[in-house]
Amino acid sequence: MAGRDGGTHMSQWNDIVWNVARAGGLTAYVLVTLSVVLGLALSMRWQGTRWPRFITNELHGFVTLLSLVFIAVHIAAVWLDPYLGLGWNEVLLPFTSHYRPIWTALGIVALYFALAVWITTQLRARIGHTWWRRFHLLAFGVFALSCVHGIMSGTDTSTPWAIGMYAGSLVLVGGLLQLRLLVPVGTRGRAHPNLATIALLTTLGGVIWSVAR
Ligand code: HEM
Repeated sequence: MAGRDGGTHMSQWNDIVWNVARAGGLTAYVLVTLSVVLGLALSMRWQGTRWPRFITNELHGFVTLLSLVFIAVHIAAVWLDPYLGLGWNEVLLPFTSHYRPIWTALGIVALYFALAVWITTQLRARIGHTWWRRFHLLAFGVFALSCVHGIMSGTDTSTPWAIGMYAGSLVLVGGLLQLRLLVPVGTRGRAHPNLATIALLTTLGGVIWSVAR
């Protein structure tokens, strides 16, 4: 990986935090995708009844927690990066960053959505199923916001592997969402064709945009 400037001591530190910021962000994004995929699979009751059960609540929770860890690593590295020179307020308050303010803001809002999903899941017994589920839908917001955030603020966006990662994640999440919305789950389940059409158009738009931009 090429460095951002010469070979001085300072620039070595520069390169380390920059690489950790990028690797942390990309890993967090993959884990967020995986977490949403597992959540959708669970909601369609894809976990088998026989041993070994691979898709479980525990795995879903573990992948989500791991994504939070990598989000934290990503943010810490972005904050420490002397090249970006962001103050803590720029890292935590949307639209205050001098570096790509709008695209950074999407990452910050994604962070707060992710925290809201996590905290309400810990409080599930207290807040009840209905509110837990409403908050849980924010997970789609985390995915969509971090997708646009990653594409628009990342250094690696134009590489073929990054384009493949973003487009692939959209096809995966969008495809499973189609199934979830069109195939009723359980005896009281319903299909949601209108929502499915909106989701399909959004997914197609996202895939075309991520590949063609
Ligand atoms: C759910 C939370 C987040 C996810 C999943 C995420 C993911 C990503 C991804 C995938 C990239 C592209 C990296 C690359 O192209 O190599 C990126 C870049 C970036 N993110 Fe985030 N991010 C999140 C939150 C944040 C927050 C809260 C900040 C706060 C400032 C932030 C600041 C940045 C910056 C400055 C870059 C550009 C780094 C560079 O490539 O030089 N992100 N992020």
